[in-house]
Amino acid sequence: MKKIPDHIAVIMDGNGRWARQRGMPRIEGHRRGAASLKEAVKTCAEIGVKYLTVYAFSTENWNRPDAEVSFLMTLFSQTIDREVEELNKNNVRLNFLGQLDRFSPDLQKKMKASMEKLAKNTGLTLNVMVNYGGRAELVDAVKKIVARGVEAKGLREEDISENLYTAGMPDPDLLVRTASEMRVSNFLLWQIAYAEIYVTDVLWPDFRREAMLDAIEAYGKRERKFGKTSEQLNDT
Ligand code: IPE
Ligand code: IPE
Ligand code: MG
Repeated sequence: MKKIPDHIAVIMDGNGRWARQRGMPRIEGHRRGAASLKEAVKTCAEIGVKYLTVYAFSTENWNRPDAEVSFLMTLFSQTIDREVEELNKNNVRLNFLGQLDRFSPDLQKKMKASMEKLAKNTGLTLNVMVNYGGRAELVDAVKKIVARGVEAKGLREEDISENLYTAGMPDPDLLVRTASEMRVSNFLLWQIAYAEIYVTDVLWPDFRREAMLDAIEAYGKRERKFGKTSEQLNDT
């Protein structure tokens, strides 16, 4: 495969539909979705993707039934316990990004400990976005900028980028959304300015290695113009 994106962002959607299609409770879809994430990390690490950023829980997802929210919290905690060793063996760096202070003290501690444990790794960087909202992230960035006393007339785009949770990382090249939905749902609003968007019918629990490779192949065929004309791009 020729063109591998440096940074892939994924809106992991369709867990509930996957379960409903099988007459199972929604939480079974989430459980199976965790296995898809494990496979996505493995695939991306193998083929040389540098950053994988996944949407695991949005600021809006607190509006779901209490039982589902609480299952997801348990699933995050169990998945950290089960997967950190293997992520470490595979040289993966891990970030939980979002407003972590809304989680229970135990879960926050676990998230922080796992990030510290993997901080020195040099392979794939996995960003798991939790209690994440693109608008909340921008508000947090503006707060930091104001607190630093940056003057309005000197404000640059870099000031915003450098104060996002993803500071120092390149923007996503490819944004994948599973389960057919044609919307952004408050994900990475600033960072996806020039991402190539790929929407697939495949539900997240069924999104395995081949599905990821299909997305990357589709990306490879896109012409990224960044405002230029096709003629200009063909000349170089
Ligand atoms: C995505 O799957 C997982 C989370 C948002 C946590 P959904 O649970 O949104 O699945 P659908 O959209 O109901 O099928
Ligand atoms: C987006 O999926 C959030 C995550 C994947 C974590 P949703 O299923 O919550 O999005 P909407 O509400 O259908 O837009
Ligand atoms: Mg959904």
